Amino acid sequence: MFNSVSSALAAVLLARCVLGTNLFVSHYSGKVYTLTYQPSSNGKNGTLSIDNSVAGCGNMPSWLTLDHTSKSLYCFDESSNSGVVSSFDVTGATPKLTGQAKTSGGDVHGWLYGGSDGQGFLSTAEYGESSISTYKLPLTSSSKALQKDTFTMSGKGPVPSRQDAPHPHSTITDPTGQYLIVPDLGADLIRIFSINATTGKLTTCTPAKAGAGDGPRHGVWWSPNDATVAGLMLYTVNELGNSVTGWQVSYPHSGCLSLTKTQTLSTYESGAPPSSTLPVKAAEVHVRGNFLYAANRNDQTFGSGQDSLVTYNISSAGVLDFVEATNAHAWYPRTFSVNQAGDMIAVGGQTSSNVAIIARNTVTGRLGSLLASIDVATPGTDGGEDGLSAVVWNMSSTMNLRLPVPAS
Ligand SMILES: *[C@@H]1O[C@H](CO)[C@@H](O)[C@H](O)[C@H]1NC(C)=O
Ligand SMILES: *[C@@H]1O[C@H](CO)[C@@H](O)[C@H](O)[C@H]1NC(C)=O
Ligand SMILES: *[C@@H]1O[C@H](CO)[C@@H](O)[C@H](O)[C@H]1NC(C)=O
Ligand SMILES: *[C@@H]1O[C@H](CO)[C@@H](O)[C@H](O)[C@H]1NC(C)=O
Repeated sequence: MFNSVSSALAAVLLARCVLGTNLFVSHYSGKVYTLTYQPSSNGKNGTLSIDNSVAGCGNMPSWLTLDHTSKSLYCFDESSNSGVVSSFDVTGATPKLTGQAKTSGGDVHGWLYGGSDGQGFLSTAEYGESSISTYKLPLTSSSKALQKDTFTMSGKGPVPSRQDAPHPHSTITDPTGQYLIVPDLGADLIRIFSINATTGKLTTCTPAKAGAGDGPRHGVWWSPNDATVAGLMLYTVNELGNSVTGWQVSYPHSGCLSLTKTQTLSTYESGAPPSSTLPVKAAEVHVRGNFLYAANRNDQTFGSGQDSLVTYNISSAGVLDFVEATNAHAWYPRTFSVNQAGDMIAVGGQTSSNVAIIARNTVTGRLGSLLASIDVATPGTDGGEDGLSAVVWNMSSTMNLRLPVPAS
């Protein structure tokens, strides 16, 4: 489930040479696809193929979360008013539906937490309903939400068209597994909940305040070491502000985890997108080693339908520095995933509805050339809630790093 480099890695590298590597893709039109990336014999590029597809994630699959430990893929459904959350076993060639629960709809993201192993419960974020919900795992047809917290705001935020109400956009656990973090795009908050690992109950902590109009969407952790929480940082990507924010994480002796904002940097080198007329929206953020990557949607920096990915380096103190913007080879890159070896990234273009494989230098962190690209199902419409919603390598690290609970 977490970043663990082990003998499994050697086996995977071997398997990749022989068999290619698989990716899972969800598409808003209703299916989950399995793709294979096959490197070419020249070692410079490769080919992507679509192997198979399965239904089972409702009418609007919006997100995929992969759990390595149980080799399960969780899929979330954004259908409004009524939807499903599903789990698939991904040990075979085709994902096999293993569980499904009905939801109140509108799910855009979800994450595992609690239990004895961090896999006891599932949290989901409902953007439209201003809520988060939790479910006990495994999912079954009789599963019901354990808890549903609906948030409110006294007035609209600085970006009234998007900040009309709270809009929780994702839920992730902290590296100690004691807290759930929920970036709320509508309320400009990073909501924090403490986890009761036994019951799955979430208790509200004091949230951290994002910048006015930032619209935080997703977050990712980085630590200068893998032994303690000392120096731990959270980086969030701000969809409305088109920026990334660094947060110092503290674990006080009593009370909840707290976040202190340290910096906010644009997802554009000049501080502004290349065109003032395109409605741009930063989308996704990931860390690999001492590099942070963010995706810009609809900036078309590299030409028509060619948006950008941004690379930052991270100093030992957790300070971000802008390195460069590179071609995402995708339009509306809503999602991307670094493979386990760290030498490739898969980008999911929502509107272009393609998966692009881009080389990544494991030493410099720089993204390189396009290795392969394939179109999946039907393209989306400009700005629409359609097209390709998520991509994840079978052996990537979608779940975050794990650190021991600090001594109190
Ligand atoms: C890989 O690169 C070679 C040489 O540039 C090119 O001829 C070939 O078409 C490429 N293959 C793919 C799948 O892009
Ligand atoms: C995904 O990776 C696991 C190893 O963790 C492997 O057992 C499984 O066969 C893979 N599934 C696919 C569809 O590639
Ligand atoms: C979790 O909830 C149970 C049942 O309410 C309670 O007995 C236990 O003390 C709680 N654990 C923590 C760490 O609060
Ligand atoms: C980060 O990149 C900047 C600009 O390329 C460079 O000046 C700086 O030394 C780098 N910092 C680290 C920690 O690598």
